[in-house]
Amino acid sequence: MPDTNDQRIDPSWYWSRERAAEEWDHVWARVWHMGPREEEIPETGDVFIHTLGRESLLFVRRADGSIGGFFNVCRHRGNRLLPGGDGPAFAPRFTCAFHGWVFGHDGALEHVPYRERFDERILSDPACTSLRTFRVESFAGWTWFTLDDEAPPLREFLGPLAERLEAYRMERATIVDYKTFEFACNWKTTFDAFSESYHFQALHSDILSWGNEDAPITLLGIHSYMVNEYGRPSRLYADQEGVNPALAALLQASGIDPATFKGKATDVRRAVQQAKRSQQDDTVFPYATLADSQLSDAYHYMLFPSVHFNLFPEFYVAMRYRPHPGGDPERMYFDFIMCAPLAPGESVAPYTHRVARGGEAPVGDVLEWGVRNHPVVNQVLGEDIDLVEHVQAGMRSTAFAGPILSSDERRIAHYVATIDGLILGRALRDIMAANPVEADNPPGA
Ligand code: FES
Ligand SMILES: [Fe+2]
Repeated sequence: MPDTNDQRIDPSWYWSRERAAEEWDHVWARVWHMGPREEEIPETGDVFIHTLGRESLLFVRRADGSIGGFFNVCRHRGNRLLPGGDGPAFAPRFTCAFHGWVFGHDGALEHVPYRERFDERILSDPACTSLRTFRVESFAGWTWFTLDDEAPPLREFLGPLAERLEAYRMERATIVDYKTFEFACNWKTTFDAFSESYHFQALHSDILSWGNEDAPITLLGIHSYMVNEYGRPSRLYADQEGVNPALAALLQASGIDPATFKGKATDVRRAVQQAKRSQQDDTVFPYATLADSQLSDAYHYMLFPSVHFNLFPEFYVAMRYRPHPGGDPERMYFDFIMCAPLAPGESVAPYTHRVARGGEAPVGDVLEWGVRNHPVVNQVLGEDIDLVEHVQAGMRSTAFAGPILSSDERRIAHYVATIDGLILGRALRDIMAANPVEADNPPGA
């Protein structure tokens, strides 16, 4: 019997190699992506290797302080200039290990052994021999890059998202945890799971005692955000009166003694906001530039198509989704990066970035890797990590006809429609212009 769902997303988009190739050509190669944080490339000659799908990309700090972006590809015979996966390196110039060609930080070819054995017309043509570049811009303390010379400037791409993120002063924060999970699933399977709160009541039910999973969603052009109210029980939680231990901990963390707190469970969120507001002139946290709801709630921004920022006033988590270097559409990298501002004089040990197999592989100790981590974040992350490969496996069955989406999951339909438009050949600017910027709809204070 035919069903009535004509909105369905084709499940083969989660495993088809053809679809993955179309996504690479029309989406990944055309939009802006989040690269390394600027603090990861502090000194002249410092390089950060960042992979995106099949591309290895070099971000280098140059003598004038700017950051250059070069494909990690020797122009001679294609060898990788710097071996290795994601992470820092140092290169005062780029010397290829294969035959010794040397390139400067401007990408120019500076030295060729036995130069006289080549056609000088070719060697002296920078179009033939300079390292291929890609565009790099800075925003919120991060480098951003696009592989498309025709893409709109970053600020235009971010649109109304930019000013909303600026309120969080993200450039002041420092990386305190950075780990990468390799999952046996499509990148969208993980992206989808982190794009909605409908699953909190089933998968993350511990949250219900202190957080509301019923999260308003606002579409901002091709991007979007969702607000999770924290400091009040979910409407699904039976006890709306008693200040349970999780709510007491939130009071304590904002400087209120739970023992003397006179309010009910539903009063905690407002009390937390008021406490933080009273501290705004004497804190490293960006309370002064945040609205009341942002003092208690998590603002979860989706930057099309590969980044989520889950922003709390005291720290944030950047989640970055990357297709796998090997090209298998059923593998992906998920970067989990926690950043927090440090008070004057405060320091943390340098983070160590590590890559772990996720999915069904045990990740208990991986969750504790950060120089600073958060037990609740770890628990929730662990639940999501355990989930995504099961979703991929189920979607792979002939029994699965495609998702049936609620209004709480409309961000998924929204970004998939943008991908579709790009694959069908529409200009990115046209799609951006056609997507409405909805009025902000935050929960009340
Ligand atoms: S491949 Fe790089 S010098 Fe030959
Ligand atoms: Fe989740």
